Amino acid sequence: MSDRETPFAVHPDVRRAETPPGWVYSDSGWPREIVRGAFVGGWHHLDPGSVPRGEARPFLLAEGCLDEPLLRTCSQDGSTWIGSNVCTHRGARLCDQAGPVPELRCKYHGRAFALDGSLLRAPGFDGALDFPRPEDSLPSLPLETFGPLEFTSLSPAEPFADWIAPVRNRFGWCPWDRLELDPAGSKSFHVEANWALYVENYLEGFHIPFVHPGLRSAIEGPTYRTSLHGSTVLQLADAKAGDPALEVPIGSEDAGSRLAGIYIWLFPGLMLNLYPFGLSLNRVVPESVDRTRIEYRRYVWAPEHLDSGAGGDLDQVELEDQSIVQEVQRGVRSRLYTRGRYAPKHESGTHHFHRLLDASLRRAAKVDPGVIDQAPRT
Ligand code: FES
Ligand SMILES: [Fe+2]
Repeated sequence: MSDRETPFAVHPDVRRAETPPGWVYSDSGWPREIVRGAFVGGWHHLDPGSVPRGEARPFLLAEGCLDEPLLRTCSQDGSTWIGSNVCTHRGARLCDQAGPVPELRCKYHGRAFALDGSLLRAPGFDGALDFPRPEDSLPSLPLETFGPLEFTSLSPAEPFADWIAPVRNRFGWCPWDRLELDPAGSKSFHVEANWALYVENYLEGFHIPFVHPGLRSAIEGPTYRTSLHGSTVLQLADAKAGDPALEVPIGSEDAGSRLAGIYIWLFPGLMLNLYPFGLSLNRVVPESVDRTRIEYRRYVWAPEHLDSGAGGDLDQVELEDQSIVQEVQRGVRSRLYTRGRYAPKHESGTHHFHRLLDASLRRAAKVDPGVIDQAPRT
């Protein structure tokens, strides 16, 4: 099954490749498969906020997309646990609201779990054979960190260390540990477009001179560069002389550069945008085939730079991107549009994204061969 074609299969040579067919962005069968193929296997940034000892906090992972009911708890010994919020008996939700709890007690038939997910009691199960088994405890999920950022995954397609390695290796010099969450910079936007169109737009700087006049004046356009690494696309732009910049120290790969912005995308939908002020983190959440939520979280290491340079007016840049992406959503539905081509020097990131998406759909098809066959052919 792994060698079957998916609609995101593109020629490996960007100079020859054609872009995916327009119908993939508006066919309602696809969001479900994308979720299965990409988001279930992906690493997800968790909203910051520790839980006090002896308390539990329920949340939905990728709300509106995966809607996976999870729990974060903190035991009396101070250890944090992330895992399922669904009872292992018949699937009732365990915890409805955040607060102190001595144990996690199911309201349906009284099964009780410790704050690390282990099964404590299962009333009424006397006589059950081969019980309890390890799987009668709550499934635990990994909790990984990078600086102040926390991540989890339902079923990692790759180890966290491999996923984050391009960021750690190239931008380890950034003061990640000094980042502090700025609640004023946390907000969500909705885009009436397919999530993949939003990501494609992010992965090329080709449109900047046409779509972002303000941003264009903050970066040295000819210095814009893109590199591809595993599940990551990195884009860098130098600052104009005299503007605030990220000064890259001696000994690192980009030593000597004065960067206006570092744009990091991690498959499938995480964007880490580094500016002189700190980090603008964007989570791309597909809600339906033509609606996407973009969640912004802002972390600051140099508040004096909040209003300047390439990171100075992010709302304006966001609105300009949304506007063009929504137009593209309407355009790719055209009966007269089939596929495009990639500009080899400018759109290698977008091409890389399509190749990763294709690989992820192939992986999903190994689990469920119907994934690819359900797609309409035009
Ligand atoms: S569903 Fe939880 S004890 Fe039955
Ligand atoms: Fe843009």
